[in-house]
Amino acid sequence: MDLMFKLRPRFFISSLFLILLLKNPNLGSAANPKCISTERQALLTFRASLTDLSSRLFSWSGPDCCNWPGVLCDARTSRVIKIDLRNPNQDVRSDEYKRGSLRGKLHPSLTQLKFLSYLDLSSNDFNGLEIPEFIGQIVSLRYLNLSSSSFSGEIPASLGNLSKLESLDLYAESFSDSGTFSLRASNLGWLSGLSSSLKYLNMGYVNLSGAGETWLQDFSRVSALKELRLFNCELKNLPPSLSSSADLKLLEVLDLSENSLNSPIPKWLFGLTNLRKLFLRWDFLQGSIPTGFKNLGLLETLDLSNNLALQGEIPSVLGDLPRLKFLDLSANELNGQINGFLDAFSRNKGNSLVFLDLSSNKLAGTLPESLGALRNLQILDLSSNSFTGSLPSSIGNMASLKKLDLSYNAMNGTIAESLGQLAELVDLNLMANTWGGVLQKSHFVNLTSLKSIRLTTEPYRSLVFKLPSAWIPPFRLELIQIENCRIGPSFPMWLQVQTKLNFVTLRNTGIEDTIPDSWFAGISSEVSYLILANNRIKGRLPQKLAFPKLNTIDLSSNNFEGPFPLWSTNATELRLYENNFSGSLPLNIDVLMPGMQKIYLFRNSFTGNIPSSLCEVSGLQILSLRKNHFSGSFPKCWHRQFMLWGIDVSENNLSGEIPESLGMLPSLSVLLLNQNALEGKIPESLQNCSGLTNIDLGGNKLTGKLPSWVGKLSSLFMLRLQSNSFTGQIPDDLCSVPNLRILDLSGNKISGPIPKCISNLTAIARGTSNDVFQNLVFIVTRAREYEDIVNSINLSGNNISGEIPGEILGLLYLRILNLSKNYMTGSIPEKISELGRLETLDLSRNKFSGAIPQSLAAISSLQRLNLSFNKLEGSIPKLLKFQDPSIYIGNELLCGKPLPKKCPKDI
Ligand SMILES: *[C@@H]1O[C@H](CO)[C@@H](O)[C@H](O)[C@H]1NC(C)=O
Ligand SMILES: *[C@@H]1O[C@H](CO)[C@@H](O)[C@H](O)[C@H]1NC(C)=O
Ligand SMILES: *[C@@H]1O[C@H](CO)[C@@H](O)[C@H](O)[C@H]1NC(C)=O
Ligand SMILES: *[C@@H]1O[C@H](CO)[C@@H](O)[C@H](O)[C@H]1NC(C)=O
Ligand SMILES: *[C@@H]1O[C@H](CO)[C@@H](O)[C@H](O)[C@H]1NC(C)=O
Ligand SMILES: *[C@@H]1O[C@H](CO)[C@@H](O)[C@H](O)[C@H]1NC(C)=O
Ligand SMILES: *[C@@H]1O[C@H](CO)[C@@H](O)[C@H](O)[C@H]1NC(C)=O
Ligand SMILES: *[C@@H]1O[C@H](CO)[C@@H](O)[C@H](O)[C@H]1NC(C)=O
Repeated sequence: MDLMFKLRPRFFISSLFLILLLKNPNLGSAANPKCISTERQALLTFRASLTDLSSRLFSWSGPDCCNWPGVLCDARTSRVIKIDLRNPNQDVRSDEYKRGSLRGKLHPSLTQLKFLSYLDLSSNDFNGLEIPEFIGQIVSLRYLNLSSSSFSGEIPASLGNLSKLESLDLYAESFSDSGTFSLRASNLGWLSGLSSSLKYLNMGYVNLSGAGETWLQDFSRVSALKELRLFNCELKNLPPSLSSSADLKLLEVLDLSENSLNSPIPKWLFGLTNLRKLFLRWDFLQGSIPTGFKNLGLLETLDLSNNLALQGEIPSVLGDLPRLKFLDLSANELNGQINGFLDAFSRNKGNSLVFLDLSSNKLAGTLPESLGALRNLQILDLSSNSFTGSLPSSIGNMASLKKLDLSYNAMNGTIAESLGQLAELVDLNLMANTWGGVLQKSHFVNLTSLKSIRLTTEPYRSLVFKLPSAWIPPFRLELIQIENCRIGPSFPMWLQVQTKLNFVTLRNTGIEDTIPDSWFAGISSEVSYLILANNRIKGRLPQKLAFPKLNTIDLSSNNFEGPFPLWSTNATELRLYENNFSGSLPLNIDVLMPGMQKIYLFRNSFTGNIPSSLCEVSGLQILSLRKNHFSGSFPKCWHRQFMLWGIDVSENNLSGEIPESLGMLPSLSVLLLNQNALEGKIPESLQNCSGLTNIDLGGNKLTGKLPSWVGKLSSLFMLRLQSNSFTGQIPDDLCSVPNLRILDLSGNKISGPIPKCISNLTAIARGTSNDVFQNLVFIVTRAREYEDIVNSINLSGNNISGEIPGEILGLLYLRILNLSKNYMTGSIPEKISELGRLETLDLSRNKFSGAIPQSLAAISSLQRLNLSFNKLEGSIPKLLKFQDPSIYIGNELLCGKPLPKKCPKDI
């Protein structure tokens, strides 16, 4: 939305009356009015009851009250005719506004000013005071402005005595520090007293829900009314008719926005033939847009946006309205094509449309050439619809266009070259479509005003920039977002000269070049998003730059090399993964990048220690350093970093012990330290991290017993301790982890039996889903790796003895069971087929005896089976689909196909 058109209603007031009132013929005369002392006294009394924090009424002291700020006297009679105490500051969020707000009470002394015609007390803070009755006694008033001054309670009916009042502003949005206050009007009968004089009435934010069904009749009695603003008044119904056809005939401006009208657009509107501006946004209006709008030949502004439910096609009569400047139909359910509607505009040659917003509807079809007939259009927003096809070449005729938004459509054609003629275009958004074709110099040649370009397509489409490599464009951009289009292989001059950028995304653009240091240095002062991911950009980054406004750095998946950039920044996210950066991380990373929350450096060639200063990055949430060459011990200095929840330093050369201080991290959820050379025991302190969901400590040199306290980690989803030197038995406590779905203890020295309580692993038993797995997704690309082993138990390569406990058959969702390379005995449970989702069963290299149960053949999901090197006997069940003999070898007493040994009964 363009600010120009979307100002709040209260700033949108026609200045007509103001001008009329101020042009009092006497004001211009030379004579100096002299204050009348009773009026001076009345003003002083009035001031005395006010609280004036900024002392803006300080100079209300001299003898001539006609000279006081905010006071105006009639030049001839010296009577006070105007008091303007509006807050001089209008920026409601500023401290000046707060200080400039008058507070306190309103003294009835004002009623002594018998000629007062203009009273403005707006934008002050009367802190819930009721509008005083006595205002109704100042019957000389023609202008009364009490807007946004934190009055509350019922609007006094005495206002109906102000029979000369022409302009009444009671707009009630309040900006008080001490809470919000609301005005209400539950009886609007007093309006009839203003019926012949009142031309302007604003009751925005006044609660009219108590005013009953007749509210419209009450307002329509004010027959002189030209402007009626009832924005956000809690009106719940919209009567289908007016009581008399003469009602509201003079109305030029009507604003009923932000009420829950829940009705179709009523026919009576089309009798208001003087309407110039009609605002019906956020009203929950339903049904289609009536053709009755054709009667409103003077209409300049029509806002039906955000009703969410207006449907049907856009009637072409809207295109026939000769004076229409501003049309906002966004955020509805309008469908069909827009050809008819645009054709109507193009017939209406002198069309004056300046603003057109049809975004967020269900409009479809191609954009017709008649679009170009909107020669005066400055803002065109067609985003978030289902338009297809190409950008029509008539676009070049829209010489006034400043903003063009076609984002989030299904535009699958080409972009017309004539785009390049739009010398006024500032903001071009073509993102989230499936554009194809070639963009040439002519597409950009006259875009002298362009500040922002967004252009993204789908990777499978080919949209290619073919601009001369040395071409210098006429624009200096502040924002560029180009994704899945081919710009490269070089980093072209037209980009190199863009050094005023504050937002950069060049993702998957085929750039293979180096980027000059001067470009990084040039953008450093303003840039907030620097995203160059998924290219093949090479070279080193300039060191020692400051990026004061940077928020996110994403240079991932390129061919950058050389040292970590010593950039000083308050950015929160650093993505350098999948490059070939090398060298060590700066020891003062906490000073350089104190605001870091997410650090992703995985898959690079970093070496050296992981700096301890990371412990001082207080907002750190994710540290992902996987697959580098970091060595030394993992920092030991962790303290209460409340946000840190994901650590992935797997696949490095870390040595030493797992630091005790990890137990200080209250939010720790994902801890991946696998594939390093860590030694010692798992620190007991980790049991304090009660939110742990995923632990992988595999592939280290860890020793000691399996921790029994894991039983306390009720969120634990994955526990992988494989390929270490853990000893002792599997503790029963492990069974009481209700969410565990991945258990890998393989390759240790664990002894004793599998505990019978194993069936207490309820997540595997009942297949209860949980989202903790998603935590791995945020650690970036690790999720897929682990996805394949959800619902698995791997105890392979230990010293486990005893039988397979029958209880294991309760783990109905088990997909992988690997008990190979242990000392287990007994037979394979007869009812093994109860594990109906089993995909892998490896019992090889144990001492299992007895027959292979027939029921194994009934597990249709089973894909991998290994029973080799046991003491199994008898014939291999016929129905078993596994015909590779290596599955069965090493069982001397086993016979039948696929083994060469025939069974006795077959001989
Ligand atoms: C009332 O005062 C406010 C500023 O406080 C102003 O925006 C508004 O236009 C005024 N109303 C009228 C009708 O002049
Ligand atoms: C002013 O209005 C009130 C309430 O409507 C009424 O009671 C009172 O008589 C009126 N005063 C004058 C002077 O008209
Ligand atoms: C508006 O007034 C009605 C009663 O007249 C009340 O129920 C409702 O809560 C009020 N709305 C607000 C926002 O105060
Ligand atoms: C664009 O999409 C429309 C509608 O799906 C289709 O009919 C047309 O063939 C597509 N055009 C191109 C160039 O892919
Ligand atoms: C670019 O603008 C210049 C000056 O307005 C004009 O002469 C020229 O024809 C334009 N070129 C294109 C391709 O629109
Ligand atoms: C980070 O923010 C602080 C406080 O706002 C500021 O003093 C400092 O200069 C900023 N650092 C950088 C590198 O921009
Ligand atoms: C990555 O950088 C290291 C150190 O500079 C270098 O030895 C290695 O060859 C580079 N690897 C690739 C794939 O470029
Ligand atoms: C397993 O679950 C049963 C029943 O819920 C319970 O009685 C038993 O204590 C649990 N065993 C362990 C070791 O958690």
